[in-house]
Amino acid sequence: MNHDAAMAVVDGRNILWAAHAERYSRIKNDQFLNQAIVDEAKTYGPFDKVVYYEKPLLKKTRQLYAGQYSDALSYTEMPQWHLDRFGIKIDEYVKHHNSHAAAGYFTSPFKEAVILTVDAIGEWDTVSISVAKGNKIELKETIKYPHSLGILYSAFTQRCGLKPAEEEYILMGMAAYGEPKYKDDIYEDFVIQAPFKLKKNLHRGLSDWHPEADVMDIAASIQSVLEECLADLWHRASKYGSRNLVYAGGVALNCAANTALANMGLFDNIWIIPNPGDAGSSLGCIAASEQRHLDWKNPFLGH
Ligand SMILES: [Fe+2]
Repeated sequence: MNHDAAMAVVDGRNILWAAHAERYSRIKNDQFLNQAIVDEAKTYGPFDKVVYYEKPLLKKTRQLYAGQYSDALSYTEMPQWHLDRFGIKIDEYVKHHNSHAAAGYFTSPFKEAVILTVDAIGEWDTVSISVAKGNKIELKETIKYPHSLGILYSAFTQRCGLKPAEEEYILMGMAAYGEPKYKDDIYEDFVIQAPFKLKKNLHRGLSDWHPEADVMDIAASIQSVLEECLADLWHRASKYGSRNLVYAGGVALNCAANTALANMGLFDNIWIIPNPGDAGSSLGCIAASEQRHLDWKNPFLGH
């Protein structure tokens, strides 16, 4: 319902199948499920339990806080409303960051780890750090909306003429072609680095911030700020003592940042599920519900 709708089917520890809606609809980052993906999922059915990767009523409290009244008050914004037409009944709702964390940890080879989740927004959490041991994941700390690294990066994606919540990977690539000339200005206007905080709510973008700037330089600047803020979060995660890091959430798709972060040497082992974003949470919400490791064989999970 936001972006990257996806489904996964799990039987015990076996991942039977998982896929993106976009593969069936041919609409990139498609936010909605469609009949074709549902039909394929149902070939593994009937389902014993259906789990959804977000708590919709909790999300509505955040939407009300953010002034998104039409979204908050609309029943068509409820996931069950969308699934009714496919004859699917949701049995359980899992908190969004729990889905991310479980997607990472329960597909990892680790018996214990610290889990860092960073994304734009689910219900309220934008950053969470958990400690995992065996089958138990314990939440230790969070940063909440509107203080969001994902929203910050998406706002700059839009500022550079790209589509937010979709084309962040292009902004990341553009960063290599510019100079971080506006880094200080970003801190001055928007960001407190440690502990991470935004000075303004950027959910609706930046409008024409620095209209004279070369977008490559803006890209290099926000990439550099992102990496510095993430470095602080990795340091915070490392204080929990584990040498194993599970890194999750859509911001973990920024592979340029990941390389720099891994090179800090804070962890011996790092696991990022091949899709740490919201689509991967279709698997994660099942894992969070069942609370046990999945038998991860390889990234090819379906279509
Ligand atoms: Fe997310």
